[in-house]
Amino acid sequence: MLYLITGGAGFIGSHLSEELMNRGHDVISVDNFNDYYDPSLKETNLKLVEKTAEKNGSYYKMYRGDIRNKEFINSIFENHIFDGVVSLAANAGVRPSIDNPSYYVDVNLMGLTNLLEACRFHNVRSFVFISSSSVYGNNKKVPFSEKDPVDNPISPYAATKKAGELLCYTYHSLFDMNIACLRYFTVYGPRQRPDLAINKFTRLMLEDESIPMYGDGSTARDYTYVSDIVEGTILALNYVMKKDKHIYDIFNLGGSHPISLIDLINVIGNTLNKKPKIKQLPMQPGDVNITYSDFSHAKEILNYEPKVRIDEGIKKFVDWYLDNNAKQKI
Ligand SMILES: NC(=O)c1ccc[n+]([C@@H]2O[C@H](COP(=O)([O-])OP(=O)(O)OC[C@H]3O[C@@H](n4cnc5c(N)ncnc54)[C@H](O)[C@@H]3O)[C@@H](O)[C@H]2O)c1
Repeated sequence: MLYLITGGAGFIGSHLSEELMNRGHDVISVDNFNDYYDPSLKETNLKLVEKTAEKNGSYYKMYRGDIRNKEFINSIFENHIFDGVVSLAANAGVRPSIDNPSYYVDVNLMGLTNLLEACRFHNVRSFVFISSSSVYGNNKKVPFSEKDPVDNPISPYAATKKAGELLCYTYHSLFDMNIACLRYFTVYGPRQRPDLAINKFTRLMLEDESIPMYGDGSTARDYTYVSDIVEGTILALNYVMKKDKHIYDIFNLGGSHPISLIDLINVIGNTLNKKPKIKQLPMQPGDVNITYSDFSHAKEILNYEPKVRIDEGIKKFVDWYLDNNAKQKI
């Protein structure tokens, strides 16, 4: 099979591309290597993906460009016949979206529309859109279920993800596309974005700097290890490729074991054998109190079952960080 993975030089996209090739598939990728974080990290990810392609004898090609450029996206679809598309390219940060909402709408929605349009006109019927747990906003009921209302996103980023799910429904309904929207719950592991907590806290602790803790430490996140996310994404891709079905569905992909911020800091400290220095700061606008996935729907339909516990996952992340990446900066 030949898949298009957008955002393929990023944290999750590079892992997904590698795993698809390890399973015998070919991959075309799109990425604009923007400077939201150090683009040299994306170049390193790309080198690893290219090595995996070489090892497996897979066909792999990276197109450097912007998903907002309609002609560029169309030209890729003219060059290849895709069996499926995974749309990961997006502006991914929650807090920066509050300062620059129009940029988020532009990339996360106009870029997505260009992809859906290209699928429509080139007869690609299997599509996976990567959404986010942030669509639940400050949902009071835990764990979060796909059946819960998601009409109160509290950041522009979250609003673009919810809007992306709606746009996907429209393309499913009008053009008979099979689409799965995956609500990822905070993903971590080797190559994690340097702006995300686990990576940032590891760096600060190793540099003996204090850790900014927004709020009293009781906010909690349901962390999902990257290999579990990649597995769930491939299961969803297989699902939307069923030709005899008419599919639009939304799945939570999480770990279902939220950990509080203060406990997370302590797990990282214990793993690094460091006593964390904490600087308590006020809660940040846009941050939700808790994320907590109910993944029973993904389990039932996709057979998704996350395997990596947080302590194991943190250990793997820290080992990778110490081996590869100790000098990385945002
Ligand atoms: N990491 C998480 O915890 C998490 C949680 C929920 C959802 N997600 C979603 O998963 C996806 C991937 O996230 P990630 O953590 O791997 O982020 P990432 O920033 O590492 O990867 C995104 C990639 O998309 C590329 N990109 C961004 N804008 C682009 C554009 N206009 N044109 C072409 N390429 C562009 C970036 O250069 C980057 O390489 C995003 O859609 C994000 O919103 C991530």
